Amino acid sequence: MNNKSYNNWKLEFDEASILWLHLDMADAGANLLSSKVFAELDTILADIEKELPQGLIILSDKKDSFIFGADIKEFTELKNQQEAIVFLERAHALMNRIEALSCPTVSMIHGMCLGGGTELSLACDYRVMSDESCSRIGLPEIKLGIFPGYGGTVRSIRCAGPLAAMNMMLTGRIITARAASKIGLIDEAVPLRQLKHAAKRFVMDSPKPRKLALLQRLANHKLLRPLIASQMRKQVSSKAKQEHYPAPYRLIDLWKNYAGNQGEMLKQEIQEVSKLATTNTARNLVRVFFLQETLKKHGKQIEFKAKHVHVIGGGIMGGDIASWCAIKGYNVTVQDQTPERLAQTSKRAQISFKKKYKRDRRAIVAANDRLMMDHKGIGVAQADIIIEAIFEDADVKRELYQSIEPRMKEGAILATNTSSIMLEDLSSSLNNPGRLVGLHFFNPVALMPLVEIIHGENTDETTLQQASAFARSIGKLPLPVKSSPGFLVNRILMPYLLEAVIMVDEGIAPETIDKAATDFGMPMGPIELADAVGLDICKNVASILSKTMNITLPKNLEKIVDKGNLGKKTGSGFYSYKKGKVQKNKKIKHNNLAEIQDRMIMKLLNESVACLREGIVENEDMIDAGVIFGTGFAPFRSGSIHHIHDEGAENLMAKMSVLEKRFGDRFKADEYWQELED
Ligand code: NAI
Repeated sequence: MNNKSYNNWKLEFDEASILWLHLDMADAGANLLSSKVFAELDTILADIEKELPQGLIILSDKKDSFIFGADIKEFTELKNQQEAIVFLERAHALMNRIEALSCPTVSMIHGMCLGGGTELSLACDYRVMSDESCSRIGLPEIKLGIFPGYGGTVRSIRCAGPLAAMNMMLTGRIITARAASKIGLIDEAVPLRQLKHAAKRFVMDSPKPRKLALLQRLANHKLLRPLIASQMRKQVSSKAKQEHYPAPYRLIDLWKNYAGNQGEMLKQEIQEVSKLATTNTARNLVRVFFLQETLKKHGKQIEFKAKHVHVIGGGIMGGDIASWCAIKGYNVTVQDQTPERLAQTSKRAQISFKKKYKRDRRAIVAANDRLMMDHKGIGVAQADIIIEAIFEDADVKRELYQSIEPRMKEGAILATNTSSIMLEDLSSSLNNPGRLVGLHFFNPVALMPLVEIIHGENTDETTLQQASAFARSIGKLPLPVKSSPGFLVNRILMPYLLEAVIMVDEGIAPETIDKAATDFGMPMGPIELADAVGLDICKNVASILSKTMNITLPKNLEKIVDKGNLGKKTGSGFYSYKKGKVQKNKKIKHNNLAEIQDRMIMKLLNESVACLREGIVENEDMIDAGVIFGTGFAPFRSGSIHHIHDEGAENLMAKMSVLEKRFGDRFKADEYWQELED
């Protein structure tokens, strides 16, 4: 073989004439299978085919990552199905050529191996993977509205069997090396120090491929496939509607119809993925992916090396924020009014740790070591960041700030988790108001990805950047938001929730209201959501917002809270709950769903437009990111403002005007609708 040099690949022969093919994508922190990377691979393969090495080992030169998948930007440039077919056929041809090499081929995986990267590894004869915590493998394409399109459907099923592989592809779940080895997706998980040796061993020994377990082989039988496929459809339909998310349904059909003929299944994979790639759902989900990437960039401009987090208020939010920070590696102290309250905080933390680490006792002990109950507030003087999560009372918060500020370390930032108080109202008690910022987490902290970074008039730019950097360091998505009533997410969500509650007042069944919302694509109906958040909290936020927004508190909300029925946490709210499970009446006949849906959704869209006009966040994209990651707004619609553009602002304004005539001026369209182009 000649010694050409490549921009993205490096060839290295060892003494045993094994070719170590290093991928090191030029000018990039991580490897992607871009067109350029593929073009070079094409040439390299041609050389390998001419002069076979003893074996081929594909590895990455990036630190702690293998291949993150295809270059999604290129995917967005595909104009139609025909272009998508050409794109996929080229990738298929390369994978087929790797598979056809008559020397042993091994993927040596350390770090993230996703999507196209996993498909490439599956085209090799063997996969060995380091069992480090940074090593993960998966086929998450379903999250982008498609499914694996580089031959990964056929090859993952061949390695792991249909039950395990379909489960992975349908959920998009990313798994550890050990889990991957257990299901047969990889051949061996080894400690990093043994990885090279293991890769070489596979080349030298060329063991026979592992045989699938009997159950997995049976599941692929043509008589059983339709039965299993219908079970899969059932499971998928409980999470995603076919008209909103077609990809999982198409994947199940692909397997059901073609699993008996691998060649045909590969061809059909191209057809199906190329169709899906150009749907609105896929385009919108890809946009959601990029919105997430944009959020991740916040706070990147600054280096904020915090070590110690001090949380004041160990209640629902403070307690969960503290345990989350401990999970993410910070030393954390938690302060509350009494040791008894802190005992509760500690109990909750144990539950969080168990949920996170399952039976990994070492990890639980380590997290516990990082989390300290601190009744006296000694941590105030040591912390790099103090997060206040005490009662929602401005006077109490101000008083607390005044007492702690003199003890705070120089340069430490003070963050409040307030959900409704303006920062300007809180910073007045500080000598240095520039160090106060809002870090508005959502409940439950461990599951909600978004954190609103609230900046008041006085917040220093550095403080703001540091708060964003901190949010990133604990794996959250920071969204900078101007201090204003309700900030962004609650402000947009509340009118939608309250309209739902008004409809309950009017006698419409909660089940019908929730169905109208989930039919639109919301992950949960507003009535069930209000019950889950807590009706007392909803009432509280609504009454604060009613001072500045055109909203009135529905009577039934006050009544139900006065009775002590606060939702899921008390076992009864708008719905009743048995063992934490909502009890819905399944016999209800749903009428008038379209109007019910319009009433709720138009309120949400109108408030989004008002926020845009007021510059609550930087731009339209940030409103969309806020509603998707903060409220779960139908991701396949790609956000509220994007939805307005999709549907046409004029059409939606016409809807608003019909609703205004029927229900009054709470449906008056914000003036800024006029500025939105279709
Ligand atoms: P909580 O009532 O569960 O906890 C508050 C804790 O603060 C209590 O344990 C209390 O003893 C402690 N506390 C009160 N004054 C204190 C003081 N001076 N020093 C030390 N500890 C003190 O309240 P929750 O729900 O955790 O809310 C806390 C903050 O988070 C509030 O500002 C709330 O608006 C905000 N928030 C709440 C959300 C929720 O869903 N509960 C969501 C987002 C923000």
